[in-house]
Amino acid sequence: MGFFSSVSNFICNVAIICWDVILTLLNLVRRKRRVGHVTPEGHPGYGGHWPEFRPPQETDSRSACPGLNAMANHGIISRTGRGLSFVEVTHQIPATYNFSPTMCSCSSRFAATMLKRNYNKDTFDLEELNQHNGIEHDASLLRFDTAFEPDQAKKDVPFIEELLAAATGKDKHGHDIITTKDFSRMLGKRRAIARATNKGFKLSLLHRFFGSTNASTLVAIFGGRVNDLRTFLLDERLPEGWESRARQAHGITMTGLSLGTVSKVEFGVREKDWAGAAREAAEGQGA
Ligand SMILES: *[C@@H]1O[C@H](CO)[C@@H](O)[C@H](O)[C@H]1NC(C)=O
Repeated sequence: MGFFSSVSNFICNVAIICWDVILTLLNLVRRKRRVGHVTPEGHPGYGGHWPEFRPPQETDSRSACPGLNAMANHGIISRTGRGLSFVEVTHQIPATYNFSPTMCSCSSRFAATMLKRNYNKDTFDLEELNQHNGIEHDASLLRFDTAFEPDQAKKDVPFIEELLAAATGKDKHGHDIITTKDFSRMLGKRRAIARATNKGFKLSLLHRFFGSTNASTLVAIFGGRVNDLRTFLLDERLPEGWESRARQAHGITMTGLSLGTVSKVEFGVREKDWAGAAREAAEGQGA
């Protein structure tokens, strides 16, 4: 990247982060969106009516991110998952999941920089987001490490089933809930076992933070509800009648999520608790 573009990139990110702090403060004082109106009127999904779900075709492009894949499976973004404009995707995410515009803009710009594309003009295919140690990283809750499964669009069903079965919480209607503690526990397990079994294992501080952010979004958007997460994670589909449980006026901000759930999830991870399981997994692999 040239000097000018990296400087302008930096300034733009500082501006986005300041804006994110402002939206976080506004969320504290503004009324929440009404139930049934989280997705704004006129957008696909308003009132829980999502466009038709169609599983991807052989030639369609998909990513490691269930959120973007689900949007493509419902036709909220191109069903092919190809030739997507960064700007357009950034506009569609807040209306679907109620992430703040700042969080969406920051992640899309991060992706554009990773792919060495122009955020304002260029396009991408979903599978291009799977570049290893860009956004995608080892010890995922939903995917086998790249070293073992190069196609990161492919779900690891046993991992997902294990995560869903790890729920220890209940909501007031008696539905099973995956709590932040459950997410910390499962992240610890995945990290310990991946570290012991994957020779090329790598997990930087940034990627730890991405991992706990993923988990936190599942708490914020789905309330950790197992029923909804089963549909979302296994079929990459939005449940009929569902809407995001994040009802903040300006959506989930980076500041709000990091100070709240992400730090709780990340500081709760205890890889050491899984030393025995990790040793067994490594021995099993050698046998
Ligand atoms: C977080 O999401 C990214 C992109 O979808 C994925 O590659 C990564 O493995 C996820 N991390 C965890 C811990 O699930």
